[in-house]
Amino acid sequence: MNISLVGQTALVTGATQGIGRAIALALAAAGARVWINHLHQPEAAGALVAEIEAAGGSAVALAADVAVAEQVAAMFEQIVAAGSLDILVNNAGIILEKAFIDTDEEDWARVLGVDLGGVYRCCRHALRHMQEQGSGSIVNIASELGLLGRERYAAYCTAKAGVIGLTKSLAREFAPAIRINGVAPGPVDTPMVSVDCMSAEMIARETAIPAGRLGRPEEIAAAVLFLVSPQASFFHGQMLGANGGAWMGS
Ligand SMILES: NC(=O)c1ccc[n+]([C@@H]2O[C@H](COP(=O)([O-])OP(=O)(O)OC[C@H]3O[C@@H](n4cnc5c(N)ncnc54)[C@H](O)[C@@H]3O)[C@@H](O)[C@H]2O)c1
Repeated sequence: MNISLVGQTALVTGATQGIGRAIALALAAAGARVWINHLHQPEAAGALVAEIEAAGGSAVALAADVAVAEQVAAMFEQIVAAGSLDILVNNAGIILEKAFIDTDEEDWARVLGVDLGGVYRCCRHALRHMQEQGSGSIVNIASELGLLGRERYAAYCTAKAGVIGLTKSLAREFAPAIRINGVAPGPVDTPMVSVDCMSAEMIARETAIPAGRLGRPEEIAAAVLFLVSPQASFFHGQMLGANGGAWMGS
């Protein structure tokens, strides 16, 4: 499938590593100009911009914490001042492995604030702009865990289930001019799936799926690229399950 995003501008949140980085590279390779949002990672963001430019693409780095309303507002002010925004990919996320009883108010607010609040904030700003523009496409990165649930991941699973509900609600509210979809990845080989973020037991469990392996960030980026493309023009409110068979529900 030959996908062209030439002439379009995209924002990818949390784009300096893992899945976000692969998404930014895929969108840029398809011809989109890409805003690379990052949180305190100016060097990685700069390196990614340089990599995209070296390949003939166009990108700009932009710092903002998606959990902070003022920073998100400032980020969108800068984007809109520079021109149109056609594509938003809400990718930024954090994970927390903790027994539910030990998950305190602060943990809950932090995970929900980034993983669901960040999507809410960015969607609100983008949708105001896209509504005026009369077009646009948004892809929210949820997780198979938002569908399955998992012990010791209640805050993360709740946030990702919220992302799925938000995606479907917004898809109905803003159709047909704006298409809003999501990807609910299975386990993917990124810094998030490492002993820094997860117990060794959970990492081992991640590969006990029909695919028998972790996914690659590029496999998630391919699903995102399709959803934002003109070829996905009949997709509204869908969650693509690039998950190695971890979840086979509808
Ligand atoms: N890796 C997996 O197995 C997997 C599975 C399902 C879903 N996901 C989701 O995919 C997305 C990307 O995950 P990943 O695996 O690449 O993880 P990652 O940890 O490698 O990357 C996450 C990125 O988000 C950024 N980020 C975190 N908090 C932020 C904030 N407040 N503001 C702006 N940026 C912030 C980080 O700096 C980082 O660049 C996340 O939403 C994650 O929940 C990952």
